Amino acid sequence: MKIVKARAHTNIALIKYWGKKNTDIIIPMNNSFSLTLDHFYTDTKVTYDENLKKDSFSLNGEEIESQNVFNFLDYVRQLSGKNGFVKVESINHVPTTAGLASSASAYAALAAASSKAFGLDLSRKDLSRLARRGSGSATRSIYGGFTEWIGGDNDLNSYAKPFQENVEWDIRMIAAVVNSKPKKITSRSGMQTVVNTSPFYGEWVKNANNSIPLIKKAILDKNFTTFGEISEENAMKMHALNLTAHPHFSYFEPQSIEIMQAIEQLRQDGIEAYYTMDAGPNVKIICEGKNSEVIQKALKLKFPEIELLESKPGKGIQFLD
Ligand code: ADP
Ligand code: DP6
Ligand code: CO
Repeated sequence: MKIVKARAHTNIALIKYWGKKNTDIIIPMNNSFSLTLDHFYTDTKVTYDENLKKDSFSLNGEEIESQNVFNFLDYVRQLSGKNGFVKVESINHVPTTAGLASSASAYAALAAASSKAFGLDLSRKDLSRLARRGSGSATRSIYGGFTEWIGGDNDLNSYAKPFQENVEWDIRMIAAVVNSKPKKITSRSGMQTVVNTSPFYGEWVKNANNSIPLIKKAILDKNFTTFGEISEENAMKMHALNLTAHPHFSYFEPQSIEIMQAIEQLRQDGIEAYYTMDAGPNVKIICEGKNSEVIQKALKLKFPEIELLESKPGKGIQFLD
């Protein structure tokens, strides 16, 4: 019997992954770039036991028959050359399927814990390739800080690369939780609809790839204005694409728009803050530490019922005792 526990943090994509060129092994259409977050994470415990007759999976204490998790475990078993089964127990310290990237921390933690439980000793690069097969955004959660997912075009050359693991910049991300209930359109189905039907998709891919060297330069220069503008524009381009799909869709809720407008107002008042959104209605505000309090105060005043959760740059994958 072997028990392995791993913790992985979610990440916020600043240049987003929004579409696959291979849906089986998850190869993205464009490179993406993210910041790993300290506030949201998943802890996953995997028990390899020769006496087990099949794999099992529980999330937050509830048994779930997840075909995605079982397919992932089949793949790890095949890599390991073993034929035993595992018990997976996972706890999300992040709302599940709410556009707060639970699939990123989930599959990064599962990749680390399950591969080790099956007796594999993978490098971080290979862990990122493995996590990728569970969920694209999980590729980047193997590393801390600023990370790039090199899209590649096959299983070997599609992996994450750390850009700045120890972030020397007091960057914060404030999640304004408009709605933490599971979303209706998963990332997986939303992005595929866009790839298949948006007439603007090719332009998105070019623009996203071109933005990566620009955001890296802004980070090296500690130019927060350029960093924020690039992030915000990339997010809005992704959400604009959704409106150009067939059938068109949107993750915005009325309050998402109100919060974005409040951030624009803060900017006009001289407080620098930018927003980004993923596949869900929650707005993520990017700011420097020195402005975090005043931004949160302003939002609390306008939207007293909305929960604000602040993150700092987070660590990469960790094995727990
Ligand atoms: P999110 O915005 O939360 O990443 P997604 O639609 O991308 O939403 O992914 C949610 C998927 O990830 C769901 O299928 C969910 O069951 C799965 N998932 C979430 N947490 C875990 C976990 N800890 N272990 C395994 N799978 C998980
Ligand atoms: C908008 O990684 O959740 O958060 O690969 O199908 O599991 P699958 O999708 P997922 O998509 C993330 C989309 C995004 C942008 C990003 O994280 O880059
Ligand atoms: Co996800």
